[in-house]
Order: sequence, then structure tokens, then C-alpha cells
Amino acid sequence: MKVDGKHFRSIWREHDGWSIGAIDQRRLPHEFVVAKLTSCEDAAVAIRDMLVRGAPLIGATAAYGMALAMREDASDAGLKRAYDTLVVARPTAINLKWALDEMRMALAPIDPLERAEAAYARADEIVEQDVEINRGIAGNGLKLIEAIASKKRGEIVNVLTHCNAGWLATVDWGTATAPIYLAHERGIKVHVWVDETRPRNQGASLTAWELGHHGVPHTVIPDNTGGHLMQHGMVDLAIVGTDRVAANGDVCNKIGTYLKALAAHDNGVPFYVALPSPTIDFTVHDGIRDIPIEQRSGVEVTDMTGRTADGRLETVRIVPEGSPVANYAFDVTPARLVTGLITERGVLKPDRDELAAAFPERIAAA
Ligand code: MRU
Repeated sequence: MKVDGKHFRSIWREHDGWSIGAIDQRRLPHEFVVAKLTSCEDAAVAIRDMLVRGAPLIGATAAYGMALAMREDASDAGLKRAYDTLVVARPTAINLKWALDEMRMALAPIDPLERAEAAYARADEIVEQDVEINRGIAGNGLKLIEAIASKKRGEIVNVLTHCNAGWLATVDWGTATAPIYLAHERGIKVHVWVDETRPRNQGASLTAWELGHHGVPHTVIPDNTGGHLMQHGMVDLAIVGTDRVAANGDVCNKIGTYLKALAAHDNGVPFYVALPSPTIDFTVHDGIRDIPIEQRSGVEVTDMTGRTADGRLETVRIVPEGSPVANYAFDVTPARLVTGLITERGVLKPDRDELAAAFPERIAAA
């Protein structure tokens, strides 16, 4: 997507052919900074510290992390070490393990001398595949937006989204945002309600930044606003992303997604989840019980960073000293609250049969 007229992806191979460039998402929206990853450890730290974030991008970074590792040590022990280092970088998004399994499958059977080149080639494929998948999601989600636009006779279609499932969270296009960008490109009037998404504010900092750069009308709202808007007919549909979809259709996504789904259900607002197939985990049968939920540092809750009027970045504490805090990064929305799953192979009902019929190769591999 474009930033100030220049085309960017969230991650790429640098001109030297081996080091990896990525947008440092911790600095947005205040500063646009590109980071260079030159080792497997760099990739693991980038994922853990959320320089890169968003399920598909975490997977893509891990794939390049394996490639960087193969330059350092392509032995069987090196392959295992890289896998073990990267797989624990963050626990919830299954795309991380998916990408690492794909890499290991491609690399384990071949001669260590050939592994570095093969690793870059496979990582490049994973990256391109993500972009293709998101194009598919865009087309399938567009039909939903078009249907609402035609029912509203060309009036503005109001979409609510949570967190950032935009191009920054993927390689390009995004998942939840892909149909929105396409609708906007096609001249459909769309407006996005952007949940700020405390505590890290991915909505306010990243989704608003993306949409702004693309000229998509949007409004940032405090996290607790969605229910009120839905009660007053101000949301036509919700589209969110996900970090892991269980075989039973339960959806894990950024903390607070469940509350939006409840409000949508109570108000008859369609609640869609956009996902690439690598986000489906057929080994998990009950999302609420079995998807591991990341707990992050309490500092994310107690402290906020922003830009002062004179341009400085400042961090302030907003919680009394000594008050305990909890920071669950994700929650699980039960399948019964999800209207549909927007995938690259169509809009599916959130249940095992539909998922298995659409992605038989994934269920066979599980
Ligand atoms: O903690 P984050 O910022 O990595 O969480 C991101 C989300 O929850 C996204 O909605 C999800 O990864 C889907 S991204 C296409």
C-alpha cells in the first residue's frame, strides 16, 4: 500500500538480497521508521517486542527469521534451534507455528548446503501467498459490502473494526481492511468506526494511520462506544481479524472483540471475521478452552505514550502506583456470535463442516 505516494509492504527483502526490512510499528503513527533484521534473533525480538505484529505478519517474519538462521548455521541442530527460538516469540497467533512448520518441511529433507537459498525461496513464497490470499478475502468481503450499499441505495456503509487487521498486520492489503480498501477503490461510500483498542491502541495508532493514508473516511472511537453506535443503527456490519480460528469456528482475536460480538448479536448487526487459511487451527477443537491467551506486561496498561504539542514523545502513568493490573492480549468469541468467516475461498459459516470442506488440505495436515 502507499505511504506518502511510495509503495510499501510491511516486510521485504532488502537490496542486498538477504537482510530483511520491516516497518517499526511501535513508532507509528508518530514516526515512520524502517528496521533492518539481520539475524534469527533479530526476527524473534521483532516479533516478541511487537516491532512487527498481526498474525500473518508474525508468520512472514518468522519465515524470514528461519532464512536468516540458515545463513548462520544450516545444520540440523541450527534448524532446530531457529525453530525453537522463533516458535515461542508469541503464543496466540497460530500463523507463527504454521509458517515455521512450512519452513521446516521445506528445509529438513534437503542438504544443509542448499538450505539458505531454499529458505529464502520458501519465505518469499509465504509472503507472496499472503498477498494473494488477502486479495481473495478482499473480493469475497466486497460482495457483503456491496449488498449493504445497494440495500442502502448508495448511502454510506458504516463498518466497525477492532484492533489492526490492516496491511500493517499482514504483508499487504490486510484481512479485515481488504474488502474496505477494495470497496473504497470501487467508489462505494464506506466509513470505518475504528476502536482505539486499549492497551496498545492498534486501532488508534495503526488502523487510523493506514486508513488516513488511503483516504478512507474513518472515526476513532473509545473501545466502549461500539454498543451505543449499534443500538442507534450507526453500524451496518463489523469486520475484524483473528489470530486463530478453532476447528469449531471459535475465533480468537484482540481483547475486546468478544464484547463487540455480543453487542452486535444483541443489535442484529452482522459480525464477520476475515482470515487467511493459515489462521485456522484444526488441532484445536474448542477455542475458548484451548487457545493459549497471551498475557503481556502490565506497563502497557499503566503507561501511555503520545506526542506532546511541541512534538516530543512522552510516556505518562495513568494508573495509581501500587494498583495491580491485568493485561490479557486476546479473547475468544464463540462461533455462535460470528455471522461468517471471510476467507480466500469464500464466506463460510463458522463451523467444522464448512471449514473442513473449504480447506480439506489443512484438515488432512492437522
Ligand atoms: O497483538 P497484535 O497487535 O499482534 O494483535 C493483532 C490482532 O489481534 C489482529 O486482529 C489479528 O492478528 C489479525 S491480523 C490480520
